[in-house]
Amino acid sequence: MILSSDDRRMTDFRQQFLALDELLSRHRHYWHSQPFVSAPEWADEVEFLTEIDDDRIHQAQASDSALLQLFQGQFPELCEQIAQLCTVPVSRTEIASHAPPFVPGRKWRQIESFAHSIKPLSHPTLEWCCGKAHLSRYLSQLSASEAQGLEIDAALVEAGNALAKRSQQPVQVIQVDVLEDAAADHISSESHVLGLHACGGLHRKLLTDATAQQAARLSYSPCCYHKFLDRAFQALSAEGQKSELQLTLADLRTAVRQNSTAGSAERRRHHQQQGWRLGFDVLQRELRQVNQYLPTPPLPATALQQDFEYYCRLLAEQKNLHLPAGVNFSAFEQRGRERYRAVIRQELLRALFRRPLELWLVLDQILFLQDAGYRCELTSFCPQSITPRNLLIDAHYQH
Ligand SMILES: C[S@@+](CC[C@H](N)C(=O)[O-])C[C@H]1O[C@@H](n2cnc3c(N)ncnc32)[C@H](O)[C@@H]1O
Repeated sequence: MILSSDDRRMTDFRQQFLALDELLSRHRHYWHSQPFVSAPEWADEVEFLTEIDDDRIHQAQASDSALLQLFQGQFPELCEQIAQLCTVPVSRTEIASHAPPFVPGRKWRQIESFAHSIKPLSHPTLEWCCGKAHLSRYLSQLSASEAQGLEIDAALVEAGNALAKRSQQPVQVIQVDVLEDAAADHISSESHVLGLHACGGLHRKLLTDATAQQAARLSYSPCCYHKFLDRAFQALSAEGQKSELQLTLADLRTAVRQNSTAGSAERRRHHQQQGWRLGFDVLQRELRQVNQYLPTPPLPATALQQDFEYYCRLLAEQKNLHLPAGVNFSAFEQRGRERYRAVIRQELLRALFRRPLELWLVLDQILFLQDAGYRCELTSFCPQSITPRNLLIDAHYQH
């Protein structure tokens, strides 16, 4: 039998999904652990990272290629396999027009790259969860066509329509909750449904509604797979449903655990907060004589402007824990810092599986789309430094 290139791509996606499923099952003990809560049984396998300075650790947190480089020496086969299975063709074209004053620069770069990656357009577009519909306006200008957007937030709907009016573009934003059944009524077999960073349950609804209406084309970039799910995660494709992975919400969060866009002040605040949390954790284990993590509620950002002792007193009060006189707070603060230094290094091994997990989730969607009659392409539409959520699924309905 001779396979056409389309047949081959469909088979490739299936094979890629099954290979990722096998890799993730085999290494579950790494990515399913929670180093912040308790030291993993494989902690000594990442001891070598103690020698690596914080800058390189930070680079690896932000970039998948730096992450692979860091582990290459210790886990050569695993890194090789991940690199091979997670390679995605790049669709981006280098464009760098000036962002209009009302669109943040990084968002503008995403919009440009997304829009140019899906050219040419041959159907009216419907943007799912469009915010102020910046993407729809950009596309409408690019292809001189009409566009509609769906958005739940009344203020964004109003702002989106005002911007369209100001620029005299045929773009209409409609206030719709896409999770309602009636959202599907906005889609027809002529629609090209778009989604730039629609979170978990929102992009899943895009998929089920658009395939039910046999929309002509879907182009979307998923993000935050763990959000807007009203029940436990369920795979969409037949292959995904057969998988033994049984992903939890925490696992879905692992797929997006990457921070390439936080500024240095934000990062410093985060480090201080995590170090203090772990310092309090060491303290509470000793006070309670229970070697177990005690979940604590988030504290307002202002709590970090005081000192560590004040921070511990707030948490102790929340947990009805008595702090005796004579606690050496600076010693616990130091132990928290040391534990955090170890935890961020252990988290990196877990992070090595974030892209495989994300691709597993995306390929599950692609297999679902293929079974519904769509020819799919998967590309990355912009560099990770612009947004780590840079996967683009472009699906054309085959009559
Ligand atoms: C991450 S933002 C993306 C916005 C836009 N696509 C962009 O890239 O700038 C997600 C958008 O989904 C909207 N949203 C959240 N829940 C929704 C729902 N149930 N129905 C419609 N829109 C929703 C939010 O108000 C927000 O504008």
